[in-house]
Amino acid sequence: MVKICGIGAGYVGGPTMAVIALKCPSIEVAVVDISHSRISAWNSNKLPIYEPGLEQVVNQCRGKNLLFSTNVEKHVHEADIIFVSVNTPTKIRGLGAGKAADLTYWESAARMIADVSRCNKVVVEKSTVPVRTAEAIEKILCHNTNSKGIKYQILSNPEFLSEGTAIQDLLNPDRVLIGGNQCPEGLEAIQKLKAIYAHWVPEDRIITTNLWSAELSKLADNAFLAQRISSINAMSALCEATGAEVSQVSHALSKNTKIGPKFLNASVGFGGSCFQKDILNLVYICESNGLTEVANYWKQVIKVNDYQKSRFVKRVVTSMFNTVSGKKIAILGFAFKKDTSDTRKTPAIDVCKGLLGDNACLTIYDPCVTEEQIQKDLSMDGVEWDQQPMSSTMVKQVSVVGDAYEATKEAHGICILTEWDEFKNIDYQRVYDNMHKPAFVFDGRNILNVDKLREIGFIVYSIGRPLEQWLKNMPQQA
Ligand SMILES: NC(=O)c1ccc[n+]([C@@H]2O[C@H](COP(=O)([O-])OP(=O)(O)OC[C@H]3O[C@@H](n4cnc5c(N)ncnc54)[C@H](O)[C@@H]3O)[C@@H](O)[C@H]2O)c1
Repeated sequence: MVKICGIGAGYVGGPTMAVIALKCPSIEVAVVDISHSRISAWNSNKLPIYEPGLEQVVNQCRGKNLLFSTNVEKHVHEADIIFVSVNTPTKIRGLGAGKAADLTYWESAARMIADVSRCNKVVVEKSTVPVRTAEAIEKILCHNTNSKGIKYQILSNPEFLSEGTAIQDLLNPDRVLIGGNQCPEGLEAIQKLKAIYAHWVPEDRIITTNLWSAELSKLADNAFLAQRISSINAMSALCEATGAEVSQVSHALSKNTKIGPKFLNASVGFGGSCFQKDILNLVYICESNGLTEVANYWKQVIKVNDYQKSRFVKRVVTSMFNTVSGKKIAILGFAFKKDTSDTRKTPAIDVCKGLLGDNACLTIYDPCVTEEQIQKDLSMDGVEWDQQPMSSTMVKQVSVVGDAYEATKEAHGICILTEWDEFKNIDYQRVYDNMHKPAFVFDGRNILNVDKLREIGFIVYSIGRPLEQWLKNMPQQA
C-alpha cells in the first residue's frame, strides 16, 4: 500500500488530502499538523474549516484510509510521498519584509523530513512558494547530516482550489500541474504523482512542466485573477462617474470569447489569504531581478484593491451627511467570500476599520464567522507585519449578533460586505421599518435588487451603478 503524508492540515492540506483518500482507497493518507487544536477538530464532528461538501468526504474516509495526527515524525517517516501544505505568509520582518514569502514553516518542515527519513522520498510542494524554492528545499534535504545517501525528488504541485468551492474544484479540477526535475529520477517522480491524480482526473488535464514553470505558474495564476478583479473594480469607479452600469459593461465583456465570463463582478475588493500575498511575492521576485517596471505593473493591482475599499468607506461616510460618528451601521457578511468561514485579508476588515475610524458603531452578522474571530481581526493593526491591538474603545464599538434582523434593528445604514445567498432573501421591508430614516444600503457585492429597495424607501449605493440623486448631491469625495 502506498503511503502519503500531508504536512499542514489547513484550508489546502485538509481538503486536498481528504479528496485523495476518497478517490484512492488503496492509498493510506495521514494528515499531520503541529497544531493540536486543528488536529483534534479534524477528528471531531466540528471540522476546523467550513467548506461545502467537506464533511461528507471526511466522514466517508476518516478511520479507513484517512487519519489526522500530530505525530508528524512518525507519519513522515513511514510515507513514500509527502505533500507539504504549510502556510507561507508574507514576511513580517527582515529582508523583504512586507513582500517576500516567509518560508520559515516550509524550512522547518523540510528539516524535519530530512531528520526522520530513512528511505528515498518524493516531496511535493503544495504550498504557494517563490520561484526556485524547490532548489532551496533540495539543498536542505540533501545536505542534512542524517541524509545518509537518501534521495529526494522535489515536485511542485501547486493547488488551484478556491475556498467555498474547494471540494468541487478538487473533484473536478480544470487542470493539475506537476513540475519536476527533467532528469530520469525527476520524470519518474512526476509519473508517480500523476498516477495518483489519474485515479479521477482525465490525463489531458494533468500538465507536466519543469519545476520553476510550475512554481511561477501558481503566482502568475493568482496575479492574473486578482488583476481581473482590480480591472473591473477600476471600471466600476468610472461607471459611477459617468452613469454607465458596471454589470452591463461586464456582461458585454463576458461575451467576448477572448475574455470570458469569470471574475468580472465588481465588488468592494478582493480578499483571502492568497491574492495579495502572492502578488507581493511576485513583486519582490521582480524587484530582486531588477525588473522594476514589471514589479510596478503588478503592484498596481493591489493599489486599485486598496483604493476600492477606501472608496467604499468614503461613499458610506459622505452619503450619511459626511459623518457616521455615533451612528449604527449594520455589517452583513465578514468572510472574504461566501461559503467560507475564512476572514484572512477580507475586505470587511479594512471597511470596518475605516468606519470605526470615523467613530461608527458596528453591528456585524456573518452566517459562518465567529464573534471571537471578528474581534480578533478588528483588534489587529491593518498591516500584517506590525500587528498591534487597536485601542479597546474601538473594538467596544463592535457587536456581533446572530442574524441580519438583529444587526439592522435601529441601524442608520447597512453595508453588504459578503455575497452570502441569504442576504438576497431578507425581508427588506421589515428591515426598513426597523431602521432610522433616511435608511441607507451600501451593497458592496452588487447582490441586491436596487429598484425594489428604492421602492421600499432605501437610499441605495451599489458599486459601479448610476448614482441616485441623493448620492450625487453629497460632496463628491468618493
Ligand atoms: N487557502 C487557499 O485557498 C489556498 C489555495 C491554494 C494555495 N494555497 C497555499 O497553500 C498553503 C497553505 O495555505 P492554507 O490556507 O492551507 O494555510 P493554513 O494556515 O490554513 O494551514 C497551514 C497549516 O500548516 C501547519 N504547519 C505549519 N508549519 C508546520 C510544520 N512544520 N509541520 C506541520 N504543520 C505545520 C499550520 O499549523 C497550519 O495548520 C499556502 O502556501 C497558500 O498560499 C492556499
